[in-house]
Amino acid sequence: MSDNEPSPGQQLWTGRFSEPTDAFVERFSASVHFDARLALYDIQGSEAHARMLAERGVLTEAERDAILQGLAGIREEVVEGRFPWSPRLEDVHMNIEHRLTERIGEAGKKLHTGRSRNDQIATDVRLFLRDAIDTVRDELARFQHGLLELAEREAETVMPGFTHLQVAQPVTFGHHMLAWQEMLERDRERLADCRRRLNQCPLGAAALAGTSFPIDREATAAALGFDAPTRNSLDSVSDRDFAIEFCAAASLCMTHLSRMAEELVLWASPQFGFIELPDRFCTGSSIMPQKKNPDVAELVRGKAARAQGDLVQLLTLMKGQPLAYNRDNQEDKEPLFDAVDTLRDALTAFADMVPALSVHRDRCREAARAGFATATDLADYLVRQGVAFRDAHEVVGRAVRYAVEAGRDLPELGLEELQQFSPAIGEDVYAVLTLDGSVAARDHVGGTAPAQVRAQAQAARERLA
Ligand code: ARG
Repeated sequence: MSDNEPSPGQQLWTGRFSEPTDAFVERFSASVHFDARLALYDIQGSEAHARMLAERGVLTEAERDAILQGLAGIREEVVEGRFPWSPRLEDVHMNIEHRLTERIGEAGKKLHTGRSRNDQIATDVRLFLRDAIDTVRDELARFQHGLLELAEREAETVMPGFTHLQVAQPVTFGHHMLAWQEMLERDRERLADCRRRLNQCPLGAAALAGTSFPIDREATAAALGFDAPTRNSLDSVSDRDFAIEFCAAASLCMTHLSRMAEELVLWASPQFGFIELPDRFCTGSSIMPQKKNPDVAELVRGKAARAQGDLVQLLTLMKGQPLAYNRDNQEDKEPLFDAVDTLRDALTAFADMVPALSVHRDRCREAARAGFATATDLADYLVRQGVAFRDAHEVVGRAVRYAVEAGRDLPELGLEELQQFSPAIGEDVYAVLTLDGSVAARDHVGGTAPAQVRAQAQAARERLA
């Protein structure tokens, strides 16, 4: 039995009860094995609460000082992994409060004046999530910076752009990386938005109705770095929207990472052969010696399912709850923690791995060349010669069919061969049939031209700064 272990019937709320809690119920209702993760936030909240109570004359200065000193000692125990967690004390709050009283005596029992575990947990989770969002946004930005470097490095690299996974038109590899970066920039904004809305302090709502003590909610809110106190005590203890919003943003970001993973897996396959992933991010097969498997990308794709599960779990957790606090809410933490960890780790994996990939530029070019990727450019050329687009489309379709049958690509057809399809075709057509001519021509905002890729990468870097 640890230092902090009460004997049966010694929990912090036993006054009303005639028999100790059933041993199974004790285990069933305990949350300390996961909410201990909130300990430092719980201590932070208690410090702000104790200072405010002393300021308002509810605690003496001596009591406040004893509490602050006791909490400082507990913080050390937590950080050093020496804190004697006890499941009998149910959750992080009661473990810490019990330990405080053990360390400082009577004053410890006064800390809970004017608050409840209901506003306490709502505060702890917001403080936790605020930090988690900051960490995740930093990791997102690191990945985005890596993508921008890769985009600039491969600004001139021509590859096939796909629709329906069929070769469509040539694009630059850098342009493709910038598409990924756009998805991530929206994710970063969504997380900032979530952080802004969650940054209100529920402390003072107490169990659900507020408290009869002369508390100063502005003071605790400010001390904890919140923008303001929450505005309704019932909503304060029951609201978990911020956790749901985070999981929604996390799911969407994981969906983006999963789509990137899918492309990386395809591109790294011998059939595509567009990229080489660094060996340190791949694994071998226990039976097939030739294999180099893109496991990290596949795991990111697989873990997107976890984040989506976490979101659905939270939505379902809340949908039947009447106001205000219900114990169901204890089930919010594991999915939230899982979503945070999953997203952070996936971002770390990709921030490290993706910018380190190497591009097989010849293979990318070859794949674009083999797929009649400049057929649209030929149609556009005819339009510039005065042919209506619909007619030009028809002409080029016939030319492509001819080339397929001849086993050649469009630029490999002679001028006379091309002119069978339209007399409007002249010698200058070959300039537009080249891959480099095709991408360079798309030199407008959002286009795939190397010059645009460089400009967009620079602009994105300034937004990130
Ligand atoms: N462990 C609880 C939770 O995670 C803390 C609040 C408990 N409040 C209560 N009245 N039982 O939600």
